[in-house]
Amino acid sequence: MKTHNPFVYGEIVGAAAFADRDAERARLAQDLMEGQKVFLISPRRYGKSSLIRDVMRTLSQQHILTVEVTVAASSSYIGFLESYARALVAADTPPNRLRRWASELLDSVRPELRFDARPGRDAAFSLAFPAVRTAREAARLAAEVFALPGKIAAARRQRMAIALDEFQTIATFDGGNVEHALRAAVQDQRQVGYVFAGSEPSLMERMLTPKRPFYKAGPVMRLEKIREAEFSAFIEGRFKATGLSFEPGLGDAIVELAANVPYDVQRLAHEAWDDVRAARRKAIGLDDLHQTLIRLLGEQQMVFEESWQRLTLPQRAVLRAIVLEGGRELLSADVRTRHRLPGASSVQSALAALVKQDICQKEDGRYVVNDSLYREWVVRITY
Ligand SMILES: Nc1ncnc2c1ncn2[C@@H]1O[C@H](COP(=O)(O)OP(=O)(O)OP(=O)(O)O)[C@@H](O)[C@H]1O
Ligand SMILES: [Mg+2]
Repeated sequence: MKTHNPFVYGEIVGAAAFADRDAERARLAQDLMEGQKVFLISPRRYGKSSLIRDVMRTLSQQHILTVEVTVAASSSYIGFLESYARALVAADTPPNRLRRWASELLDSVRPELRFDARPGRDAAFSLAFPAVRTAREAARLAAEVFALPGKIAAARRQRMAIALDEFQTIATFDGGNVEHALRAAVQDQRQVGYVFAGSEPSLMERMLTPKRPFYKAGPVMRLEKIREAEFSAFIEGRFKATGLSFEPGLGDAIVELAANVPYDVQRLAHEAWDDVRAARRKAIGLDDLHQTLIRLLGEQQMVFEESWQRLTLPQRAVLRAIVLEGGRELLSADVRTRHRLPGASSVQSALAALVKQDICQKEDGRYVVNDSLYREWVVRITY
């Protein structure tokens, strides 16, 4: 029998590849069930979307109506309102009732509905507001759409849980009015729990400051990394369950090499598993892991080279220093001399540029390279 690779990266992980997070799952589920408005914040690729999907699955088993929308998938404010309205109307609605339900709910804003009747595709239906053009019309539409969950929960006598993922994008729509409108609408909806999830911590945190509408709107969850020991044991468990024995320390080595970023951990484990399987071997050791790393670095060579070429010379020097110094004390005279860095203020602006380009971030007072493969490439290839 063919065994599937038990490791998943680059997409939302299902129950089988999901590690740890018991406390976070329980807390988020409870908050949503109580109709709280939760902010979920973490750097990219820590597992927000996976956590949300998992919790939503649990909630829908408990007869709670769930809706997930990715805000960043929309290219405009009205586009977002359309996709949000569509998701709300379609939630758990049988296809033959969609048309009536949509016009009942959205009567006053007269949506244009399209149904794709191609056989085999269930309820491909879209909803548009072509008449909405001006900012004022958009604001009116937004008020209607944001009130929908309350109406739906009341009409169906069901609690709801709504996830707005990549929520930081909302700040780019309509100069902040959208935050006011959404906050005003959600605070009256006691039957509806919301989770607003975002991956740019600085943008998300700014939304929660005193002068912004979402200030004190509800609990804030800052998703941390998965605990190292649990992640490592989880990885080893999956190797074992798929018939591969492993050298002691393999799980820890994977977690460490991946800087314990969930995506990077799963990537390394997935690729190592593939390599060992392709070689028809039954055991995996630290050497194999190293071979896989070398292969991955080779495959990414072009991407990393391009990224490196785009950096200014001071940025390159600072990036190397981050990697070699573990991201600490980069402004000190000592580190600057050792790595031939420019003056402190130039180092500071290079750091800011690296963060802005999503190459590095600050974590617990030190700088880290976001992509652990890029970090390894910098160590090995650059001077
Ligand atoms: N609980 C988990 N157990 C195991 N692996 C996980 C877990 N959560 C996330 N991952 C790994 O991290 C990857 C990214 O997860 P996910 O897309 O949920 O993160 P995210 O925080 O939503 O990222 P982004 O900010 O880029 O949207 C997954 O594809 C998976 O490989
Ligand atoms: Mg996500």
